Amino acid sequence: MKNLLLVGVLCLAAAIGLSGCGGNQEAATSSSGGKVLKVGASVDFAPFEFQDEGQSEYQGFDMDLIRAIGKEMGYEVEISNIGFDGLIPALQAKNVDVLISGVTINDERKQNVDFSDPYYESGLTMVVREDEQNIKTFSDLKGKKIAVQIGTTSAKEAKKIEGAEVKELNTPADCFMELKNGGVDAVVNDRPVNDYYIHKSGQTGVKTLPERLTSEDYGIAVAKGNKELAEKINAALKKLKENGEYDKIFAKWFGAQK
Ligand code: ARG
Repeated sequence: MKNLLLVGVLCLAAAIGLSGCGGNQEAATSSSGGKVLKVGASVDFAPFEFQDEGQSEYQGFDMDLIRAIGKEMGYEVEISNIGFDGLIPALQAKNVDVLISGVTINDERKQNVDFSDPYYESGLTMVVREDEQNIKTFSDLKGKKIAVQIGTTSAKEAKKIEGAEVKELNTPADCFMELKNGGVDAVVNDRPVNDYYIHKSGQTGVKTLPERLTSEDYGIAVAKGNKELAEKINAALKKLKENGEYDKIFAKWFGAQK
């Protein structure tokens, strides 16, 4: 009993010091005294989160969206670049408050994190070499070599393909490189990212196939049980959808396409 009391007192002290005691955490404060939303993103996923050479700012749809959400909530947004398979652990360790990184909402992840309302409809497609004759649909991937980004839904889906040899690499760029070098026969990855890679970055020698393996929704992840933060994010997202800001950001990165 005495020990419990002690823990309680320590928690209170910690709460006053803003470090929190499990459960709901108070936001950190910035040097200028404002509240800070610490965001984790795997900055390797154009047009959602990427960094152009010689540019310090992270850019993309997710980056604009989370900055707009932060602004709406009255938070300063601080983004850390973390490898995709390290994102959920970073959230669980409370190194960051939220994840925005084209993260697909699924039941497996819901056991470890909570999600905001969906903010983008996506799904998986594949990229093959331009001269590829034998792979036209996903059923042709049986027994083939496939590159995927580690920790993604693509990795999960590719492993279900009979006889396929799945190479899990750190970034989609590594996967595309492997495809071009002939190390794999196909890359399975999120459709908008494949489309952007093929059409926007002027790639040659590779093509994307139209078939969609899955349809998936992206959500912003918060620590399991942090209802308060999820609600604030949902309210901000709703506001941005109502006031046209979401559409503006969408049009900036995807034009009229859906
Ligand atoms: N949507 C896929 C998933 O959730 C891939 C996300 C990869 N995101 C990234 N920033 N690399 O598993």
